[in-house]
Amino acid sequence: MDTPSLIVPEKSVFLETFGCQMNESDSERLLGFLRDLGYTRVETPGDADLIILNTCSVRDKAEQKVYSALGRFKHLKEENPGLIIALCGCVAQQEGERLLQRVPYLDLVIGTSNIHRVGQLLEEAGLRNKRVAAISLSGIIDTDEYGSASRTNGLKAFVSIMRGCDNYCSYCIVPYTRGHEVSRDAADIIGEIRRLCLNGVREVMLLGQNVNSYRDKSAGINFVDLLRGVAEIDGIERIRFVTSHPRDLSPALIRLFGEEPKLCRHLHLPVQSGSDPVLQRMRRGYRVDEYLAKVTRLQDLYPDIALTTDIIVGFPGETEEDFERTLTLIRRVGFDNIFSFKYSPRPGTAAADYEPAVPMAEQKKRLAALQALQSKITIKRGRDLVGRVESVLVEGVSKLSGEELTGRTASNRVVNFAAPPEVQGRVIDVLITEAHEHSLRGTYKEWKAYAT
Ligand code: SAH
Ligand code: SF4
Ligand code: F3S
Repeated sequence: MDTPSLIVPEKSVFLETFGCQMNESDSERLLGFLRDLGYTRVETPGDADLIILNTCSVRDKAEQKVYSALGRFKHLKEENPGLIIALCGCVAQQEGERLLQRVPYLDLVIGTSNIHRVGQLLEEAGLRNKRVAAISLSGIIDTDEYGSASRTNGLKAFVSIMRGCDNYCSYCIVPYTRGHEVSRDAADIIGEIRRLCLNGVREVMLLGQNVNSYRDKSAGINFVDLLRGVAEIDGIERIRFVTSHPRDLSPALIRLFGEEPKLCRHLHLPVQSGSDPVLQRMRRGYRVDEYLAKVTRLQDLYPDIALTTDIIVGFPGETEEDFERTLTLIRRVGFDNIFSFKYSPRPGTAAADYEPAVPMAEQKKRLAALQALQSKITIKRGRDLVGRVESVLVEGVSKLSGEELTGRTASNRVVNFAAPPEVQGRVIDVLITEAHEHSLRGTYKEWKAYAT
């Protein structure tokens, strides 16, 4: 964080983040607003004047976990009554006032559309001793809500381009915790990325729950236009985005991977299941054959594209046969990696009452079988890269061996390699020589020698 201004008394914040990149990005925004108020970040809750938990409720017993996490701070509040404890994120949005009732030492509940109000809310809690739950969901995004985030990685940055989700997949809590879909103005996004670039950022990851439906209505700009606009910024070398809904992945976006070299050939395309009846009950809005048609098109056009996905196992009513179809899909596509989860009923969602539930032991068995299959595919896809030259953004010194540098390929795999320190921060060509499940090994020097 920047040095706080001299006229503001120094204050400190302890912040813990759970959940997805959207929450990571919200935490960076929180830290930006707090930096401007004179806060510095500390790593120990006992050293802080302000404790914030940024929570997630997408799976598991999210609320119980939050209550027990808060329990760790109770004694700190007793020792220091001036301490302010705040809860943000999806559990905050969902539970609102209830959290204040249940946790007497909690001061603030800040919903997902109220991050930018943190300063005003802290004033109410600190000066007026009020306990507040600010959980209104807003249908617009003001220019000053985003754009002054405090980021730690100098080369790569998350940039939120929208918030909310209108899809209401039957299992998912996100539309309830993030509200209706709303896009930021394209000019604000481009302005933020320009500033990031001047500060040394070379790779941006555009964030939204369903980026394909991004739309700046007043400027008439859709997601593909926005990507083109970002690509025009000199100095930004790589562009990624999450998450793309398979139903809304447009032919224009598929073509853009061939037209725009800065767009990394990596697409996260969550399929959730390989069986039509399950997809229908999930309300995903596509069939397996439609998903596969888009994947086939991408793989035909760009044989080097890396695809990743999300899978839910044990959705209510998922039969052994449905699950086998998911395994068949996984084999057919050859994903670089998958994120797989056991189904977790979310209160208030349509699927919460669906039956029959798949027994927990069966869910575990299916998850293990799926992960074992994917692990083999991930290793094989890594081996396929051996002997190839990949472009790598060099991020720093390798943790494994302090002598090597580390970076990521366009497909987002970690590569460790020997190279002179001056290539840090640049995108360079690396010859891949070895593949392990979680990382690759390569050589820069030999490639140079080989190339000359
Ligand atoms: N908007 C994104 C991400 C949503 S949450 C998308 O549509 O893909 C990330 C992942 O969590 C989802 O893709 C899904 O696989 C998983 N997930 C969401 N709700 C879940 C639930 N109730 N149980 C298990 N997994 C869930
Ligand atoms: Fe949830 Fe579906 Fe929206 Fe993704 S698209 S956030 S899974 S409702
Ligand atoms: Fe979790 Fe909310 Fe993200 S529920 S996954 S933090 S959108």
